[in-house]
Amino acid sequence: MDKLVIRGGRRISGSITASGSKNTSLPIIAATLLAGNGTFILHQIPDLKDIMTFTQLLNHLGAETTFESNTLKISSRNVENLQAPYELVKKMRASIYVLGPMLARFGHARVSLPGGCAFGPRPIDLHLMAMEKLGATITIETGFIDATVPGGKLKGGHIDFPISSVGATGNALMAAVLAKGKTTISNAAAEPEIVTLCKFLIAMGATIRGTGTTELEIEGTKTLKAIEFHNVFDRIEAGTLLAAAAITGGDITVNGVEPEQMKAVLKKFVHAGCTIETTENSITLKSPEKLIPTDVTAKPYPSFPTDMQAQWIALMTQAEGTSHITDKVYHERFNHIPELNRLGAHIEIHKNQAIVDGPQHLSGTKVMSTDLRASASLVLAGLVAEGTTEVLRVYHLDRGYEKIETKLNSLGADIRREKYNEF
Ligand code: UD1
Repeated sequence: MDKLVIRGGRRISGSITASGSKNTSLPIIAATLLAGNGTFILHQIPDLKDIMTFTQLLNHLGAETTFESNTLKISSRNVENLQAPYELVKKMRASIYVLGPMLARFGHARVSLPGGCAFGPRPIDLHLMAMEKLGATITIETGFIDATVPGGKLKGGHIDFPISSVGATGNALMAAVLAKGKTTISNAAAEPEIVTLCKFLIAMGATIRGTGTTELEIEGTKTLKAIEFHNVFDRIEAGTLLAAAAITGGDITVNGVEPEQMKAVLKKFVHAGCTIETTENSITLKSPEKLIPTDVTAKPYPSFPTDMQAQWIALMTQAEGTSHITDKVYHERFNHIPELNRLGAHIEIHKNQAIVDGPQHLSGTKVMSTDLRASASLVLAGLVAEGTTEVLRVYHLDRGYEKIETKLNSLGADIRREKYNEF
């Protein structure tokens, strides 16, 4: 296994370009299943474990793919295997994204139930409810979701989500674009990842109204075509890089971004005392002398994202005073806290709220990654900790951050990747 060995105490400063978004890549790769002809050319796809796993899943279904220099080419013409196996689905919950497009194009799909998750229950009931509203019949047996469309063609319907879900909204959209007639989705997720998916589907020939709002209206169409598409930047990677500068007292410019998508996060950096300047496609952060404690509540977009919650907690360990970080999306997403406390942080958890008492002097030790964003928070803490921090099980980080140590080292960090045996 790999670990990151971080020698702390170095300022993260300079200029860097954000990678393509992982969470946008996954639904748009799934959406390629909707086109029976042609080859998709997808640019700015990050070179990540999750992308590899998802591409493998598409290959398993029968799609042909090539990936070179962040460009993914996909032809789903020959897809005929309609079963997504446990071995691939268990590696990544987002595999559920193949359900909607397969049902829409083939009228049948068998997808293994995704397993548990490191930060609490992550049900898929809303995905299934959406497919049923469009006319699918769903049974669950022997660990598989077996979905069939009587008559072979989904029919438009009204889907009203009781809570906002990025994944279920994406799946519903991908199913509805090939359904017969009109579909409306209420309380749809309005995350930038869904906006990009809508733009992608529209470019393929779909008719979608209300993009970027919580009310979507889709007119089903008979066929969709393969397209060339430029993926958007990763707003969570960009936020993590800004936090790396802020926690080490550095100044950073992140290029290739759309600051508009990061308003809630940038507002919190300003509250924490940082100076933020933006252009159309860059964000510059200058650190203050002292960080000001800043409360955040993670909620669906446009609020502060749950995927930045762990990094914000790491940052607040260096602020002068107490801050409260609440997660209203995933109430149990706090695996990073015991590990941050092992580095010397003072953080308590009350229900879905972390109370961070800062500033604390952190000292390097071995810490364990437990999930993607938790790992990012440990790397941030390692950057500011005295001595050497070893972040073990770094494969979690590799699922979502492209060349993270190369990027941080180019900004002044001292991080080495080493192999180790866990037992
Ligand atoms: C996506 C992101 C993830 C991010 C999350 C919230 C990807 C690949 N992952 O995950 O990084 O943290 O959005 O922004 O894009 N829920 C249900 N039933 C369902 C589906 C969801 O109850 O069928 C609940 C979840 O448990 C959670 C909330 O809805 O409490 C939001 O989850 P959701 O937006 O669906 O997250 P994902 O799409 O899985």
